[in-house]
Amino acid sequence: MDSIKNRRTIRKYKSQDIPADLLNGLIEEASRAATMGNMQLYSVVVTRSNEMKSKLAPMHFNQPMVTNAPVVLTFCADFNRFSLWCKQRKAEPGYDNFLSFVNALSDALLFTQNFCTLAEDAGLGTCYLGTTIYNPEPIIDLLKLPELVFPVATITVGYPDEAPAQPDRLPLKGIVHEEVYHQYSPEDIDSIYSYKESLPENMNFISINNKETLAQIFTDIRYRKSDNELMSSGLVKVLQRQGFFKE
Ligand SMILES: Cc1cc2nc3c(=O)[nH]c(=O)nc-3n(C[C@H](O)[C@H](O)[C@H](O)COP(=O)(O)O)c2cc1C
Repeated sequence: MDSIKNRRTIRKYKSQDIPADLLNGLIEEASRAATMGNMQLYSVVVTRSNEMKSKLAPMHFNQPMVTNAPVVLTFCADFNRFSLWCKQRKAEPGYDNFLSFVNALSDALLFTQNFCTLAEDAGLGTCYLGTTIYNPEPIIDLLKLPELVFPVATITVGYPDEAPAQPDRLPLKGIVHEEVYHQYSPEDIDSIYSYKESLPENMNFISINNKETLAQIFTDIRYRKSDNELMSSGLVKVLQRQGFFKE
């Protein structure tokens, strides 16, 4: 097994297809992830056709991986299947609420991450697309997702056609708290972020964007408050439409 210490996101793929047996085997193995009450509150839509990929692409802000990857997977939080089973078996489902969405979201993301780890171990490359929750409504319509199904993660998968440098990570001391959470002092923050701030590519981002600090690249350009608030209220509306959230 190639160590997880070497993993990185892959955004360029060879045209080589992924055999259905391999893909289905990985999905089946991924379903060994822990799941709430063994209910498996998730499902995955497999996109292989160029027609569907080109329809999905603008929903992911035309990120090239969507049309470039042989397979695009949309992982969904899914309480539909379980609720149908309940109704078919004289049981009244009570899962049209926000708590149930969060439970299905956890299940779906554990399943997704298991899939990514297994796929990478099998020599495939993956890229997680967060645009799914920025823009869920057209994805729901295109993929015909019924009530109580919500797309939470899209993964593009294929045989790697690039070997990018591995991105940095914060040092362990930046993410671990022993026994209780210890609030970070200004000195802790300086030390935890100093390596990231020292990287030439990050220093270059600051200068080409006329910013003073790397943090401003995140707050003013990449993940802005106004965008977050807009997409947040959109997300709540679509959760209502899918039956997971009542006013
Ligand atoms: C929630 C989430 C959303 C992401 N969205 C995107 C995306 O839309 N496009 C993209 O190219 N990468 C996306 N990524 C991948 C990250 O950019 C990547 O994991 C991060 O830069 C660290 O790089 P690494 O995975 O190579 O270690 C996303 C990852 C996560 C977990």
